Amino acid sequence: MQIRDATFLMSNSRVDQCPPPTLPEYAFIGRSNVGKSSLINMLTERRGLAKTSSLPGKTQLINHFLINKEWYLVDLPGYGYAKVSKESRVQWGRMINFYLRQRENLACVFVLIDSRHTAQAVDLEFMEMLGTEGIPFVMVFTKADKQSGSRTHQNVVDYMQKMSQSWDEVPRHFITSAEEKTGREELLSFIADINQQLAQTQENV
Ligand code: GTP
Ligand code: MG
Repeated sequence: MQIRDATFLMSNSRVDQCPPPTLPEYAFIGRSNVGKSSLINMLTERRGLAKTSSLPGKTQLINHFLINKEWYLVDLPGYGYAKVSKESRVQWGRMINFYLRQRENLACVFVLIDSRHTAQAVDLEFMEMLGTEGIPFVMVFTKADKQSGSRTHQNVVDYMQKMSQSWDEVPRHFITSAEEKTGREELLSFIADINQQLAQTQENV
């Protein structure tokens, strides 16, 4: 898929204030600092489109981007950042839970996972919740440029093994690097395929 157009639309904290749910939507979520905003910039090839920072906690709201005037990409704040107050963590949880459960045009959630580490409880718990709620998701391993391919592979296998203890089927996964543009084509064609399936379903209604 070619990205012809990528526009920031709005930031907000409430699902009922998000843009009209008329286009397929893909949301990026994962721990603070995992590289969500960087991956959005890499996919769209727009450097400053989503705000990034070396300090965790940069993205605080639900941010909508309109891509090719056909689908939405959403940058969400990260979870698991220890330095925020309990109050804002609770607020975050509420905002994200509402968003994930009520956003009717949500086609797929991309759970971003730092490929430098073996399986982390916070990520496994988050995916467990998505699975239980029946929210479709895939796993996106980030920052693959930071270590050898074999180390990345070991960490991916560790996640798959732990996931398969709870689920019959493990979700699909992608390996990416925002630095080296790894995984860009794969992610974009995955999105294009879903967009096409959804368009066909609509035609048949
Ligand atoms: P929050 O909004 O705070 O939740 O963070 P985020 O997940 O949006 O992370 P962000 O994209 O802001 O990136 C965090 C840091 O990781 C920045 O310093 C990025 O430059 C760096 N980073 C992100 N992706 C990659 C990558 O693929 N490779 C390398 N080497 N660094 C990356
Ligand atoms: Mg961010």
